[in-house]
Amino acid sequence: MIWNSVAELENRQGRLYFDGCSVEELAREFGTPLYVYSENRIRANYRRLLEAYQKEYPRFAAYYAVKANNNPAIIKLLAQLGAGADVACVNEIRMAQAAGVPPEKILYSGVYNSDRDLRYAVENGVRLNLEDVSQLDRLEAIGIPSFLCFRINPGIGASGIEGLIFAGPDAKFGIIERDIERAYAKAKTLGVQTFGIHMMTGSNILSVSYFEQVVEKLLDLAGPIAQKLNIQFDFIDIGGSLGVPYRPGEEELDLDAVARTVVGKLRQKLSQYNMGEPLLLHEPGRFLVCDAGILLASVTSIKDGHKRFVGLDAGMHTLLRPALYGAYHHILYAGDLSAACDTPLNLVGQVCENTDQFAKDRPLPANVKVGDLFAILNVGSYGFCMSSQYNSQPRAAEVLVANGRASLIREREGYQNIIQGTRIPPHLIGEA
Ligand code: LLP
Repeated sequence: MIWNSVAELENRQGRLYFDGCSVEELAREFGTPLYVYSENRIRANYRRLLEAYQKEYPRFAAYYAVKANNNPAIIKLLAQLGAGADVACVNEIRMAQAAGVPPEKILYSGVYNSDRDLRYAVENGVRLNLEDVSQLDRLEAIGIPSFLCFRINPGIGASGIEGLIFAGPDAKFGIIERDIERAYAKAKTLGVQTFGIHMMTGSNILSVSYFEQVVEKLLDLAGPIAQKLNIQFDFIDIGGSLGVPYRPGEEELDLDAVARTVVGKLRQKLSQYNMGEPLLLHEPGRFLVCDAGILLASVTSIKDGHKRFVGLDAGMHTLLRPALYGAYHHILYAGDLSAACDTPLNLVGQVCENTDQFAKDRPLPANVKVGDLFAILNVGSYGFCMSSQYNSQPRAAEVLVANGRASLIREREGYQNIIQGTRIPPHLIGEA
């Protein structure tokens, strides 16, 4: 095994294969930079999650956080597996609808929604997850749905990356403790019949005890409200957050242990507050697709300056995470996996920013040359969807691979895509 438990990444005589496809052949056929996703790995991730939880708590369901990778083929694959959808905006609602996710399995957790956003969700029968009482006031004019969920800021957030902490005093998300009761009471008065409660406290969390801790906190907020207001919770949604290891040696999250401790705490609290057996929802993005994606990039130029810089045809416009969060992504020298990694290299992109560096002083083979292929791992989530056309760089193509077959699921952009939709006003045309 080359990388954690990703069986689909294989070393065949020193060459890298992904879900049965030679990555070198993929690069030749589709060009680089190229996002490649393994269908079998996504299926396996979904199955692992469901099995881990359902053996502890049969009323468990997973909603895929579409923002992690919004390629319609990926959404469709997860929808076919039975996943619901966590969506962040009207376009994501539309994408989930197009993939065939039934409206009652689409949870719209918009942030700072406009009236137009709310109206679209209500009119399409999508379930709403509100993040402030003021949104409820505005919903009155649009139409009160029979079901409502509120996103709670339980006061504790976590992540290895500071920018990925979504709860606590500094977070822009969710209803704070003081306002929770008021929100549910008002919704009930307005005629809402069934309720959900939701939190999303941080992303890429690898600690089992953290999940238990936040579930306890959420239920200690929900329980007294359920009793006091005599309301029924249809579901308890504990967000996404399930982490994956990005660095070699980092321990994988013990999913069985997470499910066991989360459900143990959940059952204890449900019975303490006499809350019945609501649906338990998880809405992971990263866990389902992160390690199912690699980014192939070719060496364009090599420079020996203060350091050795190896230029790639992918850059921060293709994969933003290293530049934005200082995030680590493991990188393989795809054409010769057996080459000794003993030379510190800096893998950089073509964008005119010095943060455009995928790896600094990373031990890699000494004989890397122009035209060689690298594979950047763990890019199935928050990869393509955060890419841009900065520096007039076109976006990459995407392929889905399964058992040695590859399907193009997004065409590579070109010059036309960069200028598409732009116009030169008449007064600027024809004059020197
Ligand atoms: N639910 C809600 C309401 C969310 O906002 C998110 C992610 C998820 C679920 C899925 O979280 P996950 O399972 O992936 O942790 N751009 C960052 C990640 C931002 C996550 C935003 N919200 C990155 O590149 O790591």
